[in-house]
Amino acid sequence: MSERNATLIVEDATYTLPIIEGSEKEKAIDVRSLLKDSGHITLDSGFMNTGACQSNITFLDGKKGILNYRGYPIEELAERCSFVEVAYLLLHGELPNRQELNEFRALLARYALLHEDMIHFFDHFPPNASPMSILSTMINVLCNYYPEMTAQPDPYEAFIATAARLMSKIRTIAAFSYKKSIGHPLVYPRADLSYCGNFLNMMFDRPVIPYVVQPEVVATLNKLLILHADHEQNCSTSTVRMVGSAGVNLYASISAGISALWGPLHGGANQAVIEMLEAIHRDNNDFGKYIAKAKDRNDPFRLSGFGHRVYKTFDPRAAIIKKACHQTLAALNVDDPLLDIALKLEEIARNDDYFISRNLYPNVDFYSGIIYRAMRIPTNMFPVMFALGRLPGWMSHWHEMMQDPDTKIGRPRQIYTGPAQRPFVPLHERE
Ligand code: SDX
Repeated sequence: MSERNATLIVEDATYTLPIIEGSEKEKAIDVRSLLKDSGHITLDSGFMNTGACQSNITFLDGKKGILNYRGYPIEELAERCSFVEVAYLLLHGELPNRQELNEFRALLARYALLHEDMIHFFDHFPPNASPMSILSTMINVLCNYYPEMTAQPDPYEAFIATAARLMSKIRTIAAFSYKKSIGHPLVYPRADLSYCGNFLNMMFDRPVIPYVVQPEVVATLNKLLILHADHEQNCSTSTVRMVGSAGVNLYASISAGISALWGPLHGGANQAVIEMLEAIHRDNNDFGKYIAKAKDRNDPFRLSGFGHRVYKTFDPRAAIIKKACHQTLAALNVDDPLLDIALKLEEIARNDDYFISRNLYPNVDFYSGIIYRAMRIPTNMFPVMFALGRLPGWMSHWHEMMQDPDTKIGRPRQIYTGPAQRPFVPLHERE
């Protein structure tokens, strides 16, 4: 940490605030003493300029389009690892050797089943229930069936076992909820299939028409889940940290993160992108109309999959996904008109000053849904796919927060702007 300080002058008082510098040269003014010393808080709606914590997990550079997990560039991890390897990296801080990877895989295989009593829950969701609502509910319920986390002697081993349990069961819950939604028999996990192969098989295998797990689809799904695995203090990860800071168990903290991810401004954007592209397709590809709507401040319509709070250049994940889109659709011999519409929309926006001046580029959600469509994953499950990917990141942040001696229960302050204190008016005196 550097010894440099910031000087703040408020009316006739001067305050010295330490400057903190991270390992990638990010700088922060430490305002933890500000209220006590100056009687002032800071105000930063949406926390656009405010750091919530110090973290060793993920580094983003929004100007350069850099994304590193535990120091490794996302491009390397997406190209050379499996999702399980990257999940291990996020959870443990180091890439696994072969033995460590096999042990982690064995944990995932061991925990793949759901308690049979939990399967009855699926019978009581309405047929059109949102897959994200089901996922958040079922993940929360898990803590009642697997309360061991507080019972095991070594909290770290207990955390890793619980993290593996959650990673394995979220996949089973997602696939089972899909099977229930289409009235098909459940397909159980198999020990001979990989993490992604098992998910695809549980989703699409059927008694009459066996599903063939295709290596290129498995490879693409691994890549997509890796690209979604973490993204520092985004809305849902901050939610997991906030809820966990109250001492809430891992299952319920993750359930809260799933709810935050559901929003169309966040992880729900991959579904909103497809719905937007379908609307443009139905509207005879009237790009001008939708670009005008996106630019109109009086119109709530926004170009889904475009823009980002941190990236002010191409989201490095979107670049990888865009390339994988072409490769996967070609490998599956899928010709999707929505891809052409997405490419055209990107081309128009990237040449329009409204988007250029606001540094609005495609983000992780712009092309991902087109790949999920080619894999035959239903559109309303796209945010669920985001949650499957983000789970190891959420759990790593929850654990880092729980281990951090600086952690306090999250409790932001506010500036009150309501009525000044006034005398009570009894009912009979109120006209
Ligand atoms: C994810 O934080 C993360 O890391 C998230 C994520 C992760 O991995 O966890 O990367 C995943 O959530 C990606 C984002 C998915 N959401 C969308 O694609 C929804 C569409 N995007 C926008 O809603 C918006 O860009 C946000 C929500 C992503 C970011 O919003 P900000 O940072 O609050 O920026 P803003 O709304 O203040 O926008 C600044 C300007 C505004 O115009 P002016 O007021 O300057 O005139 O840009 C405009 C906005 O109107 N703008 C857009 C736009 N995004 C921003 N205009 C049209 N279309 C858009 N998509």
